[in-house]
Amino acid sequence: MMALRPGVRLRVAASAIALALFAIHPAVAQEEDRPDPARMMDDLMWGRGHVGGPFELVDQTGRKRTDADFRGKFLIVYFGYTYCPDVCPTDLMEIGLALDKLGDDGAKVQPLFISVDPERDTPGVLANYLSMFNSRIVGLTGTPAQIRAAADAYKAYYTKVYPEKRDVYLIDHTGFIYLMGPSGDYVGFFPPGTSADRMVEVIRQQFAAKQQAGRMP
Ligand code: NI
Repeated sequence: MMALRPGVRLRVAASAIALALFAIHPAVAQEEDRPDPARMMDDLMWGRGHVGGPFELVDQTGRKRTDADFRGKFLIVYFGYTYCPDVCPTDLMEIGLALDKLGDDGAKVQPLFISVDPERDTPGVLANYLSMFNSRIVGLTGTPAQIRAAADAYKAYYTKVYPEKRDVYLIDHTGFIYLMGPSGDYVGFFPPGTSADRMVEVIRQQFAAKQQAGRMP
């Protein structure tokens, strides 16, 4: 959280967004033995508990990837799905733009798009979709259990919903953009709708902080 100061303003904004996200489908039944989404959100908002952790997934080329593959780089981790009608495309566009704006420094940042719709988001579908944004974004999918484990580690919430009179489902999901440090440490999150410029600003601050601490060239 530290990195994203002025934090109070950010937290208030993020809380409002989170409340709005949850208000969309207040009656959605929770699966059994799942972490309570409201508590998960609260923990994330107030920096309680661990965020991030190991995952084992498959990228858009079909190759198995784990969190350890990305050590040494900052990670931008985003949970979403390719059929998402609204928030995901906007945020992915800004993430892609942030990479471009970072120029050569963009090489120190690896964005990950983790699908919360593993049934439809096969590696091929992900490859197609991500080619519209930025070729550097790694798309990840897996079994429903692998995806659920990764999302739980990041306190990311998602659930299937069936809009009225439609047989195609949508997925309600939190849209936080997580920033992880080069050793897999949690730095903080950007709320959905964060601009590329703001991401670049915070990421550059993080570069400087890590360089000062001697943890990056
Ligand atoms: Ni979305």
